[in-house]
Amino acid sequence: MDKFVIEGGERLRGTVKISGSKNAALPILAATVLAKGLYTIGNVPRLKDVHTMSRLLNVLGAIIEWTDKDTLRIDTRNVENYVAPYDVVKEMRASILVLGALVGGIQRATVSYPGGCAIGERPINLHLQGLSSLGCEVTIKEGYVDVIAKRLRGARILFDKVTVGGTENILMAAVRAQGETIIENAAREPEVVDLARMLKKMGARIEGEGTEVIKIKGVDALTPCNFDVIPDRIETGTFLIACGITRGNIAIEGCEPLHVQALKEKLKETGMEIMEDGNTLKAAMTRKRPLAVDVTTNPYPGFPTDMQAQIMAFMCIARGLSAITETIFENRMMHVAELRRMGADIRVVGNTAIVRGSKMLSGAKVMATDLRASASLILAGLTAFGTTEVSRIYHIDRGYEAIEEKLKGLGAKIVRRKDEDMAS
Ligand code: UD1
Repeated sequence: MDKFVIEGGERLRGTVKISGSKNAALPILAATVLAKGLYTIGNVPRLKDVHTMSRLLNVLGAIIEWTDKDTLRIDTRNVENYVAPYDVVKEMRASILVLGALVGGIQRATVSYPGGCAIGERPINLHLQGLSSLGCEVTIKEGYVDVIAKRLRGARILFDKVTVGGTENILMAAVRAQGETIIENAAREPEVVDLARMLKKMGARIEGEGTEVIKIKGVDALTPCNFDVIPDRIETGTFLIACGITRGNIAIEGCEPLHVQALKEKLKETGMEIMEDGNTLKAAMTRKRPLAVDVTTNPYPGFPTDMQAQIMAFMCIARGLSAITETIFENRMMHVAELRRMGADIRVVGNTAIVRGSKMLSGAKVMATDLRASASLILAGLTAFGTTEVSRIYHIDRGYEAIEEKLKGLGAKIVRRKDEDMAS
């Protein structure tokens, strides 16, 4: 297992290029089983999760190859298998996204039932209810969800909770249903919009993506397409905070500023200067310490839960008290204990973390517990006095492309090492 060793205290400077969005790429790759043929998907990040989705598509019968640094060629002409096995699904919960794609594409799906994970239970009841409403026969047996769609028909689906994956799965099934489907309380995340954009390119009839009500008129057939994935807004946000926490001055290129609006507003309140210039964000922090801000996570366009851990690391050195409330996942505070090991003063009351900023964190050995928690520990390490070792960084490799290379390019002192502590 690898770890990162970080010497804190360097102020980041320079330019960083943002990769394609992981959370947009995953459903887009899954959607290639909706219509058999050849696809070229660009701006795909080279990440463990993308690799896992490719492996899953392989199992289903697709042939996938990198044709360029960030481009995948996908051939789904021979996709006949509809079983997503346990050994792949257990690696990545987002494997569940093949459910809607297989139902829409070949009217049958058997997908290993995903378990809980480090941040919560993460049920899929809303995905399954939605598919039932579309006329699917859904059964659970021997740890698998089995879906048979003899006749998909449009329906009105009201999600009682905003679900990104659920909205994506229903979109992919509904594009091939007979008649109209209306998804109410739909997720408005940019990744959902990007999937809809691809489906439309394939010939789907979709209206209202990016709003709470999405209308889909089913079509008889879809055709393969070439498509470029949007930039990763969580990577963008993480670099914004990396700039703030190190009192840096950086340019973040190839991003979509519109997608980080809520975060940008919060960071400005802390005293950061952030300017937009097309697809570049220029960020600088001249204050010695950020001002404390309160944050509550919410579905898009609210403050993203995927940035909660990172802003908490930032607030650990803020001037004042910050209340950070997590409303999306029930167990997403695992980074608190690790941040405390670095000297952070954090008290958790229910789903709120009260952070009392201190002048400085101190380097320590810490352990990553999930993807975004690992990002927060790296951020804390960048500002801490002394050396921080972040172990179990396989979590970060799931979702951040070449993070240490990008940070090094900005002047950070970070190296990847074999973790002998873990090996012994
Ligand atoms: C996606 C993102 C993840 C992000 C999350 C919330 C991907 C691959 N992952 O995850 O990074 O943190 O959105 O923005 O895009 N829920 C139910 N029943 C369901 C489905 C969800 O109760 O059937 C609950 C979940 O437990 C959670 C909330 O709804 O509390 C939101 O989950 P959801 O939006 O579905 O998250 P994911 O799509 O899994």
